Amino acid sequence: MKTKTVSIKESRGLSSSPQPSPHKNPNQFNGEVLTNQEVTPKKTHNKRVYIESYGCSMNFADSGVVASILSTEGFETTVEMKEADLVLINTCSIRDKAEQTVRKRLEKFNAVKRINPKMKVGVLGCMAERLKEKFLEEEKIVDMVVGPDAYKDLPNLLQEIESGRNAVNVILSKEETYGDIAPVRLQSNGVTAFVSITRGCDNMCTFCVVPFTRGRERSRDPKSILEEINDLVSKGFKEVTLLGQNVDSYLWYGGGLKKDFDKATTLQQKTAVNFAQLLSLVAQEHHKMRIRFSTSNPQDLTLDVIHAMATFDNICKHIHLPVQSGSDRILKKMNRLHTRQEYFDLIDNIKKIIPECSISQDLIAGFPTETEEDHKDTLSLMDYVQYHFGFMFSYSERPGTLAERKLEDDISEEVKLRRLQEIIEKQRVHSRHRTAGYKDKTVCVLIERESKKSEFQWSGRTSQNTVVVFPKEHYKVGDFVDVKINDCTSATLIGIPLGISETI
Ligand code: SAH
Ligand code: F3S
Repeated sequence: MKTKTVSIKESRGLSSSPQPSPHKNPNQFNGEVLTNQEVTPKKTHNKRVYIESYGCSMNFADSGVVASILSTEGFETTVEMKEADLVLINTCSIRDKAEQTVRKRLEKFNAVKRINPKMKVGVLGCMAERLKEKFLEEEKIVDMVVGPDAYKDLPNLLQEIESGRNAVNVILSKEETYGDIAPVRLQSNGVTAFVSITRGCDNMCTFCVVPFTRGRERSRDPKSILEEINDLVSKGFKEVTLLGQNVDSYLWYGGGLKKDFDKATTLQQKTAVNFAQLLSLVAQEHHKMRIRFSTSNPQDLTLDVIHAMATFDNICKHIHLPVQSGSDRILKKMNRLHTRQEYFDLIDNIKKIIPECSISQDLIAGFPTETEEDHKDTLSLMDYVQYHFGFMFSYSERPGTLAERKLEDDISEEVKLRRLQEIIEKQRVHSRHRTAGYKDKTVCVLIERESKKSEFQWSGRTSQNTVVVFPKEHYKVGDFVDVKINDCTSATLIGIPLGISETI
């Protein structure tokens, strides 16, 4: 099935910043080759690994964990596939197109393997988990299949493939959070970093493959989260994004699955740390660090979290709050555990408690049985919220999901795409309206990198996650700068720097 995925920011081609949401390159599924030459060797590096990553930010963060584990096995990362002893592809299963992209890449790997027959190929991530041993049968080039919870087994799996056997480990874990692994910061700008705080998802949205590929939800020890952030601070990083498939559902009670919290001891329950508490803890301890988090599920985003955001200046004023549909009937069929009205109440609360907060969305067009009436409900919901930006997809049926088992994929491709276009067009208007609202205002920008469009301009983001470009002058990457906005597109603000900012 053909699917289309569009991000307003990316589709305009105007953003030179990294993705502001957990979905990396959502409309292209272009993989990124990840490397870091500054890894401190724990063993002499005499082998090379090439890692290509696809999908959500969690996958990119996981590739850092994999590089760290492999570093202790004597591997250093390389951007040259041809010189690699081991080629890894960290895959995404969220839509069919993502999987097709991986298949095409494997064909390319095959061509390289013809030149370098000793090269071993491993598939990691969600597609590995979904297809398991079948991968080895379907793609002859693959030597190793490793699911998202099995990366610590890589040393053993590598031994297997070295001795000429294929290796598979797709066991999902109840405890694994990789909290004890210091990830290698691959492709880092030295300023912004992802820190995973939960793994898996228990929400069982009927369209979504994640609960099957990433397993049940579990949270990471706050101590190890704070240690990782301490380390980032000491290395000069200025912004962290706390990551989870459903980040607001974070709950640490000593380890184990979220769903087993009821079985924990009274003491464990009493001393448990929830997301609002963790967020406050991090913000308090690192008041010079910007804190972001993603992704929020409406049913799990609490008022306590919104109040924590309002209390701490260093918690960025942006919430990525996927809604998927504006129709109560479709929300129910999607097993999203909130109504349209409850979503509006949440939006009202956010706007009341943090008036300057930006809100972004994920939306799906053409879920099974969606009528024109349902689609209009989505458009009118967008009018109510006036999202700053969003990530919009047409429905892609995924094997094994509840929707695939229970509902016919009955909306034609033509109708899906037409509805998607209407959603995108509306978002474009709202995004334009939002960015225009910043004209003549002064915003604080954290400089992340050179603008892709001009070597004379910096690119950074505001607290609200809007990309800003401005002349470099004497500023440098990692500076917080006040910028007066004098122009904009629907995705980017353009301005003049006024000086180093007092705020962040
Ligand atoms: N909670 C996760 C969601 C991951 S999936 C997170 O961390 O972002 C990202 C988005 O992909 C979802 O919000 C949804 O809008 C879209 N999506 C998921 N499954 C899909 C499917 N089967 N077809 C089309 N879009 C899908
Ligand atoms: Fe997927 Fe829904 Fe979880 S979209 S990741 S099942 S919150």
